[in-house]
Amino acid sequence: MCGIVGYIGNKRAVKILFNGLKRLEYRGYDSSGIAVINDKLERFRSVGKINELLQKVNKIKILGNIGIAHTRWATHGKPSNENSHPHFDCANNFAVVHNGIIENYQELKNELLTENHKFTSETDTEVVAHLLEKYYKETTNFFEAAKLTFKRLIGSFALCIISKYEPNKIICCREGSPLVLGLGKSENFVASDILALLPYTRNMIFLDEKEIAVISADKIEVFDFNGVKHTKAITEINWDAILAEKKEYKHYMLKEIFEQPDVIFETIDNKLDEENYNIIFNHLNLTNDYFKSINKVYIVACGTAWHAGLIGKYYLEEFCNMYVEAAIASEFRYRNVPISKNDLIIVISQSGETADSLAALRKAKKLGAKSLAVCNVRGSTLTREADGVIYTNAGPEIGVASTKAFTTQVTVMYLLSLYIAKIKNTISDDKYKNYIDELLLIPNKIREILEDYNSLKDLSLTFHNFKNFLYLGRHFNYPIALEGALKLKEISYIHAEGYASGEMKHGPIALITEEMPVVIIAVKSFISEKVISNLQEVKARDGITIVITNEDVDIPDDLIDYKIILPDTIEPLSPLLSVIPLQVLAYQIADFLGCDVDQPRNLAKSVTVE
Ligand code: M6R
Repeated sequence: MCGIVGYIGNKRAVKILFNGLKRLEYRGYDSSGIAVINDKLERFRSVGKINELLQKVNKIKILGNIGIAHTRWATHGKPSNENSHPHFDCANNFAVVHNGIIENYQELKNELLTENHKFTSETDTEVVAHLLEKYYKETTNFFEAAKLTFKRLIGSFALCIISKYEPNKIICCREGSPLVLGLGKSENFVASDILALLPYTRNMIFLDEKEIAVISADKIEVFDFNGVKHTKAITEINWDAILAEKKEYKHYMLKEIFEQPDVIFETIDNKLDEENYNIIFNHLNLTNDYFKSINKVYIVACGTAWHAGLIGKYYLEEFCNMYVEAAIASEFRYRNVPISKNDLIIVISQSGETADSLAALRKAKKLGAKSLAVCNVRGSTLTREADGVIYTNAGPEIGVASTKAFTTQVTVMYLLSLYIAKIKNTISDDKYKNYIDELLLIPNKIREILEDYNSLKDLSLTFHNFKNFLYLGRHFNYPIALEGALKLKEISYIHAEGYASGEMKHGPIALITEEMPVVIIAVKSFISEKVISNLQEVKARDGITIVITNEDVDIPDDLIDYKIILPDTIEPLSPLLSVIPLQVLAYQIADFLGCDVDQPRNLAKSVTVE
């Protein structure tokens, strides 16, 4: 989705803005732009990659110590120079960048057109620049004009504005779309994502809903939309900027796949007192009595995070004997779900900014449910709005295709389920300890799988020109079939479907021919026999089978065309191993096809609009 960076201080703004934009590239975008003030307000915009904008800008040495920049992911109007941000008013006195959607823009535009404002783009954002122009004429004050403008807007927006009238400040506001302010020495920053600011400062202020910030080089002031001043806490971010670098890896996604053993270990280590087998969640804010009284659990998320939620559902049912639904957030938010105060909503999200997931959280809270966030980004909206938080310790995930965020989410759901099971007394002590011991072995087992990275290349090469794939899995590994298919389609653009193996004969079996590779997860399980029957059904129709299994699962050789052997583990932990070769397969195929792995077409890392 769109990205925002703003800078004011004693350095050349352009350089800092470009660095910031580069660090936001991973979010997905189709055009970019920048505006700075020296004597005049200057603007440069370009369709395509940031480097194209950089080439334009590099031709002229642009001075100026204040500026704003933007990467745009088109919503209103196709990617073009005219539609790229920043947007200007008629007289080029205001420059505006915007993330989100202004829902009442057409109504505002009609009003402004009757007042003779001239529009140059198809965007919703441009109305903001013209409203500022209108209200500045009435108030001759940038802050007053901004307040009046923000009050007219309906929708979700993070806005950042500079003006030639008062070139010593940036004004920004947040409603429904995140903004973070960075504090420096004689310089300050603003961005839609902390990653853009990490090279410059660790001290951040998170804007809350309906807050306005006035940023100058030596101070930051925050107000509500009526101009009442707010006192804000400064948060120190611990993420090391180095963690977000690509190092020797060809792509961030590859680096993140290889980081999984470490970040899973970190996620466990952070929450486990190994000596006493105690699981400790520092920000849970939910009592043991509450856990004993829960009626129903809703796990709500989108995309890959929803797949982690589905595995969480199996864990909670299996270990805690609870009634659990794993729902897609975009559906949940509009359903008439009977929620009560004895229900718990668990929202899983890497970014903590996904619009649908936040809407689901707000809905459930309004209906009285308690809430828990499983999230990777400290300070994100989700972590601030949920009653309790369990952090995944994945570190910054830059690749659009989620990998290490997923496996750490599954790890957290496993730990949470064991934690609740202990409270509810639904698990024996021996089993509980054994389940923890087995979890501690997982990072090394993933390392073992990744040692075979190069040998998986032959398989990827064999299959990279196929047009369709089917992924099948059962029970704990049904969500892995969905995840494997999602990984392949999002980065290689190959059509792939994930199914519960048992569903195959209810429809997808019609697709099976000698041109259909079928990836089947057939790990050691109490229902291995059933999966072997599914394999038989595929082979009987000449399908090509790629089987992910364990050494001692007895599958007749003639049912297997290609085999990937995983280390043994207990069945509930098998998804943490079976997903690894599927991530690698998707990555290698996409790389063979020459796809832009880290920034696949049409996709955004953090989906902050509905
Ligand atoms: O930030 P979130 O975890 O809330 O994001 C949810 C999905 O948008 C995300 O998992 C998406 O499906 C990824 N591209 C999958 O790789």
